[in-house]
Amino acid sequence: MAFPSWFSFSLVWVFCKALLLVVAQQNDQSTMLALINELSISGWNSSTDYCSWAGVTCTKSMVESIDLSNHKLKGNVTLISQLKALKWLDLSKNNLQGPIPSAFGSLSELEFLDLSFNNFGSAIPSTLGNLRNLRSLNLSMNGLIAEIPDEFRRLKSLMHFQIFGNNLNGSIPFWIGNLTNLRVFTAYENKLGGKIPDNLGSVAELELLNLHSNQLEGIIPESIFSLGKLEVLVLTMNNLNGNLPFSIGKCKGLSSFRVGNNRLIGSIPTSIGNISSLTYFEADNNSLSGEIVPEVAQCTNLTLLNLANNGFTGIIPPALGDLMNLQELILSGNSLFGDIPKSLFRSKNLSKIHLSINRFNGTIPEDICTTPRLQFLLLDQNSIHGEIPRGIGNCVKLLELQLGSNYLTGNIPHEIGQIKSLQIALNLSFNHLHGTLPSELGKLDKLVSLDVSNNQLSGSIPSALKGLMSLIEVNFSNNLLTGQVPIFTPFQKSPNSSFAGNKGLCGDPLSYSCGKSVGPGRETYRHKVSYKIILAVIGSGLTVFIMVTVVVLLFMMRERQEKASKAAGIAEDGIVDPPMIIAGNVFVENLKQAIDFDAVVKASLKDSNKLNGGTFSTIYKAVMPSGLILSVKRLKSMDRAIVHYQNKMIRELERLGRLCHDNLMTPIGFVIYDDVALLLHPYLPNGTLAELLHDSIAKPEFKPDWSTRLSIAIGVAEGLAFLHHVAIIHLDISSGNVFLDATYKPLVGEIEISKLLDPSRGTASISAVAGSFGYIPPEYAYTMQMTAPGNVYSYGVVLLEILTTRLPVDEDFGEGIDLVKWVHNAPARGETPEQILDARLSTVSFAWRKQMLAVLKVALLCTETTPAKRPKLKKVVEMLQEIKES
Ligand SMILES: *[C@@H]1O[C@H](CO)[C@@H](O)[C@H](O)[C@H]1NC(C)=O
Ligand SMILES: *[C@@H]1O[C@H](CO)[C@@H](O)[C@H](O)[C@H]1NC(C)=O
Ligand SMILES: *[C@@H]1O[C@H](CO)[C@@H](O)[C@H](O)[C@H]1NC(C)=O
Ligand SMILES: *[C@@H]1O[C@H](CO)[C@@H](O)[C@H](O)[C@H]1NC(C)=O
Ligand SMILES: *[C@@H]1O[C@H](CO)[C@@H](O)[C@H](O)[C@H]1NC(C)=O
Ligand SMILES: *[C@@H]1O[C@H](CO)[C@@H](O)[C@H](O)[C@H]1NC(C)=O
Ligand SMILES: *[C@@H]1O[C@H](CO)[C@@H](O)[C@H](O)[C@H]1NC(C)=O
Ligand SMILES: *[C@@H]1O[C@H](CO)[C@@H](O)[C@H](O)[C@H]1NC(C)=O
Ligand SMILES: *[C@@H]1O[C@H](CO)[C@@H](O)[C@H](O)[C@H]1NC(C)=O
Repeated sequence: MAFPSWFSFSLVWVFCKALLLVVAQQNDQSTMLALINELSISGWNSSTDYCSWAGVTCTKSMVESIDLSNHKLKGNVTLISQLKALKWLDLSKNNLQGPIPSAFGSLSELEFLDLSFNNFGSAIPSTLGNLRNLRSLNLSMNGLIAEIPDEFRRLKSLMHFQIFGNNLNGSIPFWIGNLTNLRVFTAYENKLGGKIPDNLGSVAELELLNLHSNQLEGIIPESIFSLGKLEVLVLTMNNLNGNLPFSIGKCKGLSSFRVGNNRLIGSIPTSIGNISSLTYFEADNNSLSGEIVPEVAQCTNLTLLNLANNGFTGIIPPALGDLMNLQELILSGNSLFGDIPKSLFRSKNLSKIHLSINRFNGTIPEDICTTPRLQFLLLDQNSIHGEIPRGIGNCVKLLELQLGSNYLTGNIPHEIGQIKSLQIALNLSFNHLHGTLPSELGKLDKLVSLDVSNNQLSGSIPSALKGLMSLIEVNFSNNLLTGQVPIFTPFQKSPNSSFAGNKGLCGDPLSYSCGKSVGPGRETYRHKVSYKIILAVIGSGLTVFIMVTVVVLLFMMRERQEKASKAAGIAEDGIVDPPMIIAGNVFVENLKQAIDFDAVVKASLKDSNKLNGGTFSTIYKAVMPSGLILSVKRLKSMDRAIVHYQNKMIRELERLGRLCHDNLMTPIGFVIYDDVALLLHPYLPNGTLAELLHDSIAKPEFKPDWSTRLSIAIGVAEGLAFLHHVAIIHLDISSGNVFLDATYKPLVGEIEISKLLDPSRGTASISAVAGSFGYIPPEYAYTMQMTAPGNVYSYGVVLLEILTTRLPVDEDFGEGIDLVKWVHNAPARGETPEQILDARLSTVSFAWRKQMLAVLKVALLCTETTPAKRPKLKKVVEMLQEIKES
């Protein structure tokens, strides 16, 4: 009896299911077609089967997974919620906006949902709590606000839950402790407050908990460690207080423990010795106290120990020397005392010893650096006595040596000169050192900052110190030094306070002269430099400059002769009589009133207005009666042959004046008198990029700052990309032609030369080499023509200068090697990017270092030998902007 009815029910059921499938299939077809219209995805073609589209997989014609990560998607993705069989949806790294579609809550099969790295805003829709099968949910890096929805307590299958980088507030829900399958929970960089729920410990599988940069309060619950699966715990930058729980010792698998920048108190639990996997222990900037327990030395895998800025006392346990994997030992800013244990220097991998600002009162061990990996030895502001050991010369990898403000006695060992790698700083100030300055210090040709002030050093400053070719900061003050300050730019450019307090010292930059030999000193130096520059730039921008000057002046001579025949009697030297202005124009309408041509000319006749003097052109600062300040570039007469280019030149200048881009220094006008052309530009108070990078002693207030440098790099690329867009090839890209305004916005200059000398326009027969030495692309040697990829190469050199703070050509690199070759050959020499990048920037933060490494990649591309392999400038701008935003 029941049989038939069961049978018919069964039939109906099968039929219904089939029907459902058909319907569903049709739905997927129409949904997918509708999605093409909405999202226009490359690789999705309506005339082919949607199951074959890029990123789509199906089971029985039902769409089961969609991976559209990194597709620049912008549209409305709500339609996807109609794909009922969907198990996997990855829309990460797109430009999706607005609220997360709440309709996604109806995707009941969904196991993997990744919406991270988009611009989703508003609150997280509570409907997502219906996704019972969800194992992985990633909503990180959006603009999500409000609280984590309470409905998520139903996501019992969740294994990975990532919501970092949003603006979520409220507290971490208590029910997280009931998601028993959870392995990964990251909610860092939000505005979460309240306490860490103390039932998190019942999440038996939890391996990674990262809650840094929130506003969490209260204690680190003991229970977190109770089940012992935790591998990574990051709670940095919160307001957590209380002790480090003893139960931490239960987490044998804990490898990374980071709780810096909180308000933790108490001591390090001895149970730390039980955490055999510990590699990274960071608890800096808290109020921890007590001694550094010797149990730490049992964590044989420990790589970094950072307990800086706490209240630790006692000695460094000598057993720490047994930690053969230790790379960084950072204990600065505590009250530690005693000796620096010899055993530490046995640690083969140690690259940083940072013990500054403590009370260490022993000596520096003689056999320091028996295993020379050490890059940073920072022992300043302690009470260390005794002599600087000669063994210091074995620290051949050292980048920075800080021994200032101690009680060191004896001589400066000449072995310091063996530390050729010293780069960031050598600081021996505020000690009791005596004797003479060893001339071997001059071998430290990478050193940027040298401070030996406030000791009892005597004798003269050895002229061998001229070997300190990278020097930017120097301080010899308050010693017993005598004799003349050697003639060496970094010395003369230093403030006289760098030499003050030495009764016997004389000469520039001090105000006491040394008698007869003083006068010519500085001049000799200047002379040498300009000689060197001329040599370095031979066949280069200057040649271009000569050509322009020739072109410009030739026709002016003609004009002048015409004028002269009309109004005879203008004095040849042109100083007594005000020179006759032949032509002049201001292209910018609202500046016309403010610019007075006579004042421009007058300013350009006064040496005291000179900003910058080259052999072939001079730049003057000109203050107008209106108060406006101009930069006036004077092109000097070179030749008296006659060429008819005046009108053409003026037309070109006017056209350039109309080019409008934030990062281009376009002429705002010109004045022509006698045989001189003056080009007018806005006055930029911050000089050039070259000065900023290589001359920063002139601007001691400007600290190296990576963000500024990156913005400058992007600005220059944007300016050049615009030039290429309007089909202008720059003929002389160099850091010296990048000018900086008051906010350090870069403006690419010398574009008029590029225009006036564009060979295709027949302004001059240019076979001269374009570009400055070190910036000239290799192909130029045989093509003799500047091209867009050639510009990219020169720009790449500027990028390398920005990254390395090194000149494009430098004897340092070796015979025939310029900056480009030096950087490209680094891997072959076995050098790491760290040794290439300016360590003053790359060692500041991981974020900076990461960006610098990424920019280095771009610079390497730009300076490829094969022009076709170099990216377009537009692409360069995109890449750099992406790096900046990362
Ligand atoms: C789509 O596929 C058809 C047939 O394979 C082809 O003719 C057409 O060019 C493709 N359309 C696009 C936009 O790729
Ligand atoms: C997206 O499309 C759905 C219908 O598919 C519509 O209800 C919703 O309002 C749209 N959202 C936006 C932000 O346009
Ligand atoms: C989002 O999180 C999931 C789960 O942890 C992970 O597999 C995925 O790679 C993450 N997405 C991105 C773009 O990092
Ligand atoms: C959380 O953010 C939402 C939206 O911005 C706001 O309305 C709410 O007051 C905030 N709650 C707390 C506790 O700050
Ligand atoms: C967590 O689960 C336990 C037992 O499974 C239950 O008693 C408790 O109410 C749950 N807590 C929350 C906040 O859901
Ligand atoms: C130390 O932590 C406090 C509070 O978290 C913070 O204000 C301060 O800037 C931190 N100092 C350093 C050097 O990080
Ligand atoms: C951890 O170490 C402490 C002291 O070092 C010891 O007393 C304790 O038994 C150890 N605990 C475990 C779980 O191994
Ligand atoms: C220490 O590190 C090594 C290499 O990473 C690893 O193989 C080993 O398992 C670690 N030891 C412990 C106790 O975790
Ligand atoms: C170092 O300082 C500690 C604590 O102040 C003191 O006990 C010890 O005698 C000092 N050692 C030396 C060598 O001065």
